[in-house]
Amino acid sequence: MPEATLHLGSGKVRELYAVDDERLLLVASDRISTFDVVLPTEIPDKGRVLTGLSGFWFARTRDVCANHLLALRPDGRSTECRRLEMLPIECVVRGYLAGSGWKDYRQTGEVCGHLLPAGLTESVELPGPIFTPATKATTGHDENIDRARAAELVGADRFDEVEEISIALYRYAAQHARERGIVIADTKFEFGIDEDDRLVLADEALTPDSSRFWPADEYQPGGSQPSFDKQFVRDYCESLGWAKTEPGPELPDVVVAGTRARYIEAFERLTDIPFDRYLEDPKVVLR
Ligand SMILES: Nc1ncnc2c1ncn2[C@@H]1O[C@H](COP(=O)(O)OP(=O)(O)OP(=O)(O)O)[C@@H](O)[C@H]1O
Ligand SMILES: [Mg+2]
Repeated sequence: MPEATLHLGSGKVRELYAVDDERLLLVASDRISTFDVVLPTEIPDKGRVLTGLSGFWFARTRDVCANHLLALRPDGRSTECRRLEMLPIECVVRGYLAGSGWKDYRQTGEVCGHLLPAGLTESVELPGPIFTPATKATTGHDENIDRARAAELVGADRFDEVEEISIALYRYAAQHARERGIVIADTKFEFGIDEDDRLVLADEALTPDSSRFWPADEYQPGGSQPSFDKQFVRDYCESLGWAKTEPGPELPDVVVAGTRARYIEAFERLTDIPFDRYLEDPKVVLR
């Protein structure tokens, strides 16, 4: 790395460094997690796919919301970004009823205080996207919270702003993806505040790690959907009868190759850019 950097922390799949007081470096590894467990086998170039996709969306949504992107480094997996004061909530938008949204709905008929029509089935498209914030859990799973709790955490005005912007970002991306054969069922944004008290989109955005991507041609509400990116891994893990606790299993080459191909397919479909061109020069996604 060209500049001296201080390692600030490791996520499940990314490393976080400080470049200086104003800048951070987010480095996406090729690690993959499934059922919340990081597997011992990596998927080559997965980190590049996710970094390129985030950059692509940041470049295209600048008019909806400012974002933290400063530069993509030539390695294709490192994002230089503005260091922000992060809001203490995860800004989840759901266009479809899946995951913890489906679980909450089944138990209460609501998701994060949104009363939904009765009789909805799993994975159904909602009448419109809903904002369903969660707290950032330092350990374990994030917890869905209602509007009142979220407004308490970030302030009522800021809450309205992040809700409106999160939904606008989701609508734009979901439509773009749908036209290219991918359903973005839900997604999670993280926002920070800059020195002028302005809201800035941060972290990664609209990647398969922060969203549920489904293949549109297989979409069929009434049950769970295959994952666009991780289905080979999930199917393989299920076939082993693995208990979904640490440690995860090694993946065979055929599963690695198939999964890598799916990530690259998602990149190429969504960006309309050949992945090889991204490898030559990551800046292609910013144009
Ligand atoms: N521009 C930014 N300024 C400050 N912090 C940021 C910025 N963008 C992202 N972050 C923070 O950097 C961290 C990135 O860590 P990362 O997502 O890799 O791991 P994690 O959130 O700890 O764990 P997980 O793997 O479960 O996501 C997050 O805490 C995120 O909120
Ligand atoms: Mg994170």
